[in-house]
Amino acid sequence: MAKKQLIVSKLCKTFDLGVNENLFGGRMLEWLDEAGGIYAYKQLRGHVATVKVSEVVFKVPVHERDVIDIMGTVKDVGNTSITIEMDAVNTTSSALVCSCEIKYVNMNSKNEAIPIADDARARIKREFGL
Ligand SMILES: CC(C)(COP(=O)(O)OP(=O)(O)OC[C@H]1O[C@@H](n2cnc3c(N)ncnc32)[C@H](O)[C@@H]1OP(=O)(O)O)[C@@H](O)C(=O)NCCC(=O)NCCS
Repeated sequence: MAKKQLIVSKLCKTFDLGVNENLFGGRMLEWLDEAGGIYAYKQLRGHVATVKVSEVVFKVPVHERDVIDIMGTVKDVGNTSITIEMDAVNTTSSALVCSCEIKYVNMNSKNEAIPIADDARARIKREFGL
């Protein structure tokens, strides 16, 4: 599988904290879903909707002021969907915070699933060694 690329970096701010005064897990899920969606959008050059999120295990807490890199790569491309594999890495401690796979569906302007164009699928498969 191709090496993961940096999609976005996020700063853990005061309003991102949960009751334990570490990063709220739901905020991390939001960051992952949005980053993966942007990455999928760029690969497909069109709008996507999230259809499935894998299990996410939060291995270490993230503290206020930590900077998190969301890294991703294409794991699979189907008829209408693309699956992005992502890692969240704490650049402050170098720790892997969590990993996940998110599947996005290629959508038309009526919010219906549509097949990925053959040339786009071929390009993605070639680029990511699938
Ligand atoms: C995404 C959505 C348009 C798919 O519509 P659909 O009629 O179910 O379309 P399909 O059954 O043809 O599935 C489309 C793709 O999703 C995949 N998929 C659907 N349900 C799935 C599931 N439970 N698990 C894994 N993949 C699934 C299919 O395998 C297919 O991919 P492929 O063509 O590459 O094989 C529809 O389910 C939807 O609008 N969901 C809400 C999306 C949303 O609002 N997301 C934001 C979070 S709330």
